[in-house]
Amino acid sequence: TPCSGAAGVGYQVKKIQLGAYEIDSWYISPYPDEYSRHPLLYVCEFCLKYMKSVYTFRRHCAKCPLRHPPGDEIYRDGNLSVFEVDGRKNKIYCQNLCLIGKMFLDTKTLYYDVEPFLFYVLCEHDTDGYHFAGYYSKEKRSVQGYNLSCIMILPPKQREGYGKLLIEFSYLLSKKEGLPGSPEKPLSDFGLLSYRSYWRRAIYEILLAMPARDSPAVSIEAISKKTGMTVDDIISTLQTDGMLQRQPGLSNYALVVDVPRAEAYLQRARDKSLRRIDPAKLRWAPFL
Ligand code: ACO
Ligand code: ZN
Repeated sequence: TPCSGAAGVGYQVKKIQLGAYEIDSWYISPYPDEYSRHPLLYVCEFCLKYMKSVYTFRRHCAKCPLRHPPGDEIYRDGNLSVFEVDGRKNKIYCQNLCLIGKMFLDTKTLYYDVEPFLFYVLCEHDTDGYHFAGYYSKEKRSVQGYNLSCIMILPPKQREGYGKLLIEFSYLLSKKEGLPGSPEKPLSDFGLLSYRSYWRRAIYEILLAMPARDSPAVSIEAISKKTGMTVDDIISTLQTDGMLQRQPGLSNYALVVDVPRAEAYLQRARDKSLRRIDPAKLRWAPFL
């Protein structure tokens, strides 16, 4: 139809070349019309600028001054770093970041109104620079208590634990802020899988470290303080695992920890020997 082009329907960026990868998009991302007509866009992995032709792209790479995201490196552990980028100070970068994110996110998300957000960008460091692997966004002030808005790990970097690593990072910031947090809803299928897995591990680790694990002294509030998770997310995780049981004749619930099950789960998680966040390596103070 005549208007399908104007509305951006019918044209879609299908693929981007980013660093060492050509990556197929999962969903439509609202690149400007003139770019959408190109099935393959070339993206600079450092400043995230997108280009239509390989010629422009090569010229750009030869002169692009950036070798890392334009923000503060607030965490470094081995070859992994997290940069904090302010949507107000680095608007174009953050808009480009969101356009890449939208290629893999189904839900409505922001692309252009980036100023109220901070972006936490995960990079792998080598002698060429800091290579983009994924990110999450976070509202500077969330009325609903969200500590993460959207998270995305580049498909070639998925299933290696980076999603859970950034989730762990988001809770570390919440603990520093002294406020429990939760991800913005709705979660995608993979988002929910990742959070369920993260929540379970975080809660089991706390429970098994407590001296009297099923004494009444172990309160949900205490778990919340230690994990940065909200009471609701703790309760839903414990309920899914059958570890919260209604007291006969009472209105409250009892925490009934299945210790062997929790231990077996943590052992399996350790066997995967995925990267973890080391809180001592964070260089950060809450946003004021
Ligand atoms: N199939 C089955 N299980 C999966 C899959 C998958 N495709 N992806 C992740 N999981 C499971 C893993 O098995 C792991 O659980 P385990 O440790 O118990 O085995 C857990 O989820 C986390 O795995 P990670 O390797 O840490 O996650 P990954 O680096 O792949 O990143 C993410 C997860 C960010 C959700 C990624 O899939 C992604 O970017 N998806 C596209 C964007 C998206 O959906 N984002 C979330 C939207 S919701 C929100 O933003 C609030
Ligand atoms: Zn560049």
